[in-house]
Amino acid sequence: MVDTARMAAIWQALSSTPPPELKTIFTADPDRLTKHVLELAGLRLDFSKTHLTDAVIDSFIDLTQAAGLGQARAAMFSGEAINSTEGRSVEHTALRGVGKADSVADAKALRIRMRTLIDAIEAGALGEIQHVLHVGIGGSALGPNLLVDALARDGHRYDVAIVSNVDGCALEEAMARFDPHATLLAIASKTFTTGETMLNAASAMQWMMNAGVDDPYGRVIALTAAPEKAIEWGVDETRILPFPESIGGRYSLWSSIGFPAAMALGWGGFEGLLEGAAAMDRHFRQAEPRDNVVLRAAFVDQYYARVLQCQTRAVFAYDERLRLLPSYLQQLEMESNGKAVKLDGSPVDGPTAPITWGGVGTDAQHAVFQLLHQGTHLIPVEFVAVREAGDRLDPAHHDALLVNCFAQGAALMRGKDSPDDPARAYPGNRPSTTILIDSLTPHALGALIAFYEHRTFANGVLMGINSFDQFGVELGKEIARSIEHEGAHGFDPSTMALIERALG
Ligand code: F6P
Repeated sequence: MVDTARMAAIWQALSSTPPPELKTIFTADPDRLTKHVLELAGLRLDFSKTHLTDAVIDSFIDLTQAAGLGQARAAMFSGEAINSTEGRSVEHTALRGVGKADSVADAKALRIRMRTLIDAIEAGALGEIQHVLHVGIGGSALGPNLLVDALARDGHRYDVAIVSNVDGCALEEAMARFDPHATLLAIASKTFTTGETMLNAASAMQWMMNAGVDDPYGRVIALTAAPEKAIEWGVDETRILPFPESIGGRYSLWSSIGFPAAMALGWGGFEGLLEGAAAMDRHFRQAEPRDNVVLRAAFVDQYYARVLQCQTRAVFAYDERLRLLPSYLQQLEMESNGKAVKLDGSPVDGPTAPITWGGVGTDAQHAVFQLLHQGTHLIPVEFVAVREAGDRLDPAHHDALLVNCFAQGAALMRGKDSPDDPARAYPGNRPSTTILIDSLTPHALGALIAFYEHRTFANGVLMGINSFDQFGVELGKEIARSIEHEGAHGFDPSTMALIERALG
C-alpha cells in the first residue's frame, strides 16, 4: 500500500529542485491566481503567495499515491482502527454524520441526548442556570473555548467560563464572576482521570457547597468517554453525556465536549457547526487532489517543513473572534504530528510537525513581525481573516484590519531594496497563505476546523506517522504523580533543589 521507495524518490526530487522567486511568480504564470485560489463552504483559500508551482503540486499528488493517502482516508472514514498504537478507530467525522453507519447512528443518539438535556436545563429542570462553568483541559477545553469565544461573544444565552489550568488563579477568576446558585458545573474529561480537571471539579463542587447551594450534585453534568468513573465521582447517570473512545481528545469538540458551545450558541448554532464540518468532510473525501483544499494545504505544510526545512509555521488571526485559533491549532498540530517514529515503529526520515505559533493581527505586527520580515528564519505564515465585520463600530475598524492583513502578505512576498542602508532592506520572497472567510457563522467555523483536522491527518499520512496517539505527554505526568505520592527521591540535584525550595 505504501511505496516507500517511490516516496523517497519524490522527496529527493522535491528537495533538489530550487524554489522559484516569489517576486516573479505571478509574471511567470499569468493563470497562477486562478489555479492557486480554492473556494469552499464560505472559505476562500489563497495559496498563490507560496513557492508551490504546478510541477511541485504534481509531485505531491504523486506522493499522496505512493503514501497510500486515499486508502488511509477511506480507512479512517470507514472506522478501521487506524490509530494502531492504541488499537482504536478514529471517528470524529461520524459525529458530523460522515462515517460508519453504526457510529453515525450512535452519534445521532448522543446529539438527541445533548439536546434533551439542554432543553431540560432551559426549562429549569436544574434550577435557575445563568452560568456554565466548564472544567477540562487540552482537547476537553481548547475546542469549546475557541467556539464560545468566536461565536457567542454577546453572551446573551449563558455566561460560559472554560477553566483548564490547575493553577487556582484560573478557577478563582470564574468563581469571582459567577453566582454559585445559578451555575451549571460541566466536567469535561474523556478519561475522567486527568489530575488538573479532577482537582478543579472538586474545588468547584466545594465552592457550591460552601455557598449553601441546594443539591449541588444536581447541577453537575459529565462529558466523558468513561461514564462509570463519572458515576463514581457522584454525577447522576441521567446527566452524563458519554461519547465513544474512538473520539480523540483534540478531535472531540463535535461530541458532548462541545456542550458549553451548544448551550451558548443554541442548538441551531451547534448544528450549523456540524454541518459546516460535514461539508469539509465530503470535500476532503470527494474532491480531486488538485482541487482539494485539505491536500493543497498539506502540500504547503510539507513543502516548507520537509523540503525547505522550516522549523516553525505561524498563524495570525486577523479577527479578534478567532484569537484562540493559534492555541487550538498548537494542540491539534503538535500533539498529533510531533512524533519521531513512523507507523511501523521505525525512525522518521525527516522533520515532523513544525512548531505552530502565532497570534492576533494587528497586535502581532507591533511585536513579532519584525522577525518575519527581516529575521534570518524562513517562516511560512498563514493569515485568517473574515470579510464581514464582527463589530458594530465605524467600518473604518474592520477595513483597517483587512487592509493590514493583506498588506503584510504583500510585503512579505515583495520585500524592498535599500541599496544605501542594509538595515532598511526587506529580502521579501517570504511565503504566506490567506484564508478569507465570508462571514464567521457556525457553519463556516465548523468547515474551517474540520479543514485543519483533515490537513493534520493528511500531513501525518505523508510523513508515515500515526497522528492520533500522544504518548509524549505521559512521562511528565508520571513523574508529577510520583513526586506527589512518594515525594522527591532519586531525582537530579536541580529538580530536588527546586522541590525543596518551593514545596518544602
Ligand atoms: O495530556 C494530553 C491529553 O491526553 C490530551 O490529549 C487530552 O485532550 C487532554 O490530555 C485531556 O484529557 P481528558 O479529556 O481525558 O481529561
